[in-house]
Parts: sequence; structure tokens; C-alpha cells
Amino acid sequence: MSYKIIIKPSGHALKVESGETILEAALREGFSLPYGCRNGSCGICKGKILQGAVDYGQHSEETLTEEEKRDGNALFCCASPLTDLVIECHEIGATKDIEIKTLPCRVHNLELVAPDVMIISLKLPANQRLRFLAGQYIDILLKDEKRRSFLWRMHLMMMNFLQLHARNYPGGEFAEHVFTYMKVKDILRFTGPLGSFFLRDAPENTSIIFLASGTGFAPIKSILEHIFHQENARNNKIKMTLYWGARKRADLYLADLADKWQQQHKNFTFVPVLSEPLPTDNWEGRTGLVHEAIMQDFSSLEKHQVYACGAPAMVKAAYYDFTKSRDLPTDAFFSDVFVPSISNL
Ligand code: FES
Repeated sequence: MSYKIIIKPSGHALKVESGETILEAALREGFSLPYGCRNGSCGICKGKILQGAVDYGQHSEETLTEEEKRDGNALFCCASPLTDLVIECHEIGATKDIEIKTLPCRVHNLELVAPDVMIISLKLPANQRLRFLAGQYIDILLKDEKRRSFLWRMHLMMMNFLQLHARNYPGGEFAEHVFTYMKVKDILRFTGPLGSFFLRDAPENTSIIFLASGTGFAPIKSILEHIFHQENARNNKIKMTLYWGARKRADLYLADLADKWQQQHKNFTFVPVLSEPLPTDNWEGRTGLVHEAIMQDFSSLEKHQVYACGAPAMVKAAYYDFTKSRDLPTDAFFSDVFVPSISNL
């Protein structure tokens, strides 16, 4: 059984097939709704159900509370229609013409840049190119004998080679594969590009704050390299500050690169922040929670855009504090979160 959905305010109409979520149907029909994790954790896909009823699907209770449901909200990555619907959501024009592909690739290089962070370079087949917006991600697809897919979100860096930053963490099935078994020349398959975390146009006199925790640095690196590479007017005019937080010094695995950017670009500042520096780190820099460092440094974020990527708790706290206490407009906060790989997706 299929249902019809009207998206407001655009008035676009789409058909949702049986078993599909609203987001899946929208992406299949070429409409770009905002999304991140696609498993009910990040809240980026949250929108209003103006008319009709949905099955809310499996999601984090924190991300969509009962009160929010009563107010008409749903997570479009999890919700499936039970009737025809009218929904409210702001579509993103920029990704509309970018094709999502499933492609093979070869592991070209593996570099352990911190005790628990691996940078994986993947090479596409010679006749394939991948168009994407800096900051988007791909899902790696692996199948075991039970034909269960493991999807892991990683962030894209370059066009001909894809560069991914992978963190090892307990219980991470694909992380274990990367750190234990993966070797150069392995063949993988992936789907992408995915996600709506990428650079947006900014009004004049706007400054940009990039906020990363851990490997949340990866998509921000992608966006910054894109800006530096373009050497466009925006790069010269817009002031950019990167706050990168981690527990200890080794977790800031590309701090030297961020320092180099600071030396090369007058409009760019790098602020590393450690929450639990080791005595052997000899750390003399900022300490504490990374988003709180921004709260200390700015009395107002009214004329800023913020791009935040990292742990869900950090991203949520930043959104709440910046919009409630520092006047950041809600539509000037762009985020992505890292959620551990989930099987059976
Ligand atoms: S909660 Fe739907 S995309 Fe993250």
C-alpha cells in the first residue's frame, strides 16, 4: 500500500511505498530533506506532521520526546505513514542534483594517526567519479555470512581518493574489522554521498565557528580544505575559528595541520581544547568542554554560523546553549553527529 505526501512550504508531492520511511521515499524521488544518522539518534531530520498519522518507528526517546510527538513532530528517517500526509520541512536545494551511488572501491592506504584513529584512503574504479559536497559522508557496506549489512559513517575528503577517519571503540564491529583485519588492496562497497552537513551561503559580515569533538574533525577538515582550496572572496572576507575538543593531546590527531592552516590563513584561528589532558601531555592550552570554550569566548553569536560535528551530547548541548544563551539564530546551526555503527540496518 502506498501513501501520498505533500511537503510544505514547497508543495512538492511524493509517494511512499509500503515499508519505506518518509526520508527514504523523499531521497528516492529526488527531494533533499535534511538528515544525518538515519537511525533516530541525531534529530536533524525532525519535522512537523501537519495532517495525517505516522508510525514513529524505532528512535531514541531523547531525540523525539512524547511531548514533541504531541506537538506534531516526527523523525522523518524513522517515521512511516499510516495515512496520506502533509508534512512541513525545509528542503535543501544544494544536494538535489547529486546522485547517490553504490560503488566498489579499493583500500589504497591505512594510516594509524592516533592509538585509536585510522585514516583510510579508498580508491575508486578508474572510470568512476563521485560528486559530493565537502562534509558529506558515505556508508561502507560489508556482509557477513548472515547477510547482515554493517554501515559505518565516515567522512569524505577528496574526489579521486576518498579519505575516511575511523575511530576504534569497544563493541564496534566494523571498527574491529578496520583495526584488526583490513589491509591495503581490500575491496569494499559503499553508498554515498549522504547527509546534509555542508557549507551554506552566509549573509555578509557573518563569521563561522567550526566545532568538532574527536573524529568529528573529519567533515570539518573537508569543508575547510574546500574553502581554502577555492581561495574565493568568501575565504578572504569571512573570519573562521575552529574549536577542536578531545580528551588528551594524542586525540587531536591532525593538530599540526590545523596549526599550519592558522599560519597560512589570516582569517582562520585554531583553538584546541582538552578535557582530560595527561600529565605527560604538558598541556598549556585550553581545558574543559569544547563547546563551553566557545561560550566563554563569545558573548553573542548573533552574526555567526556554527558547524558542529562530534558526539551527540556535545552537539545537543552546543545547539541548546548557543541558541538559548548566545543569540545564535536556530537556522545558523548546522550539525552532524557520530553514532556507533548499528547492525541490521
Ligand atoms: S534522527 Fe533522523 S537523520 Fe538522525
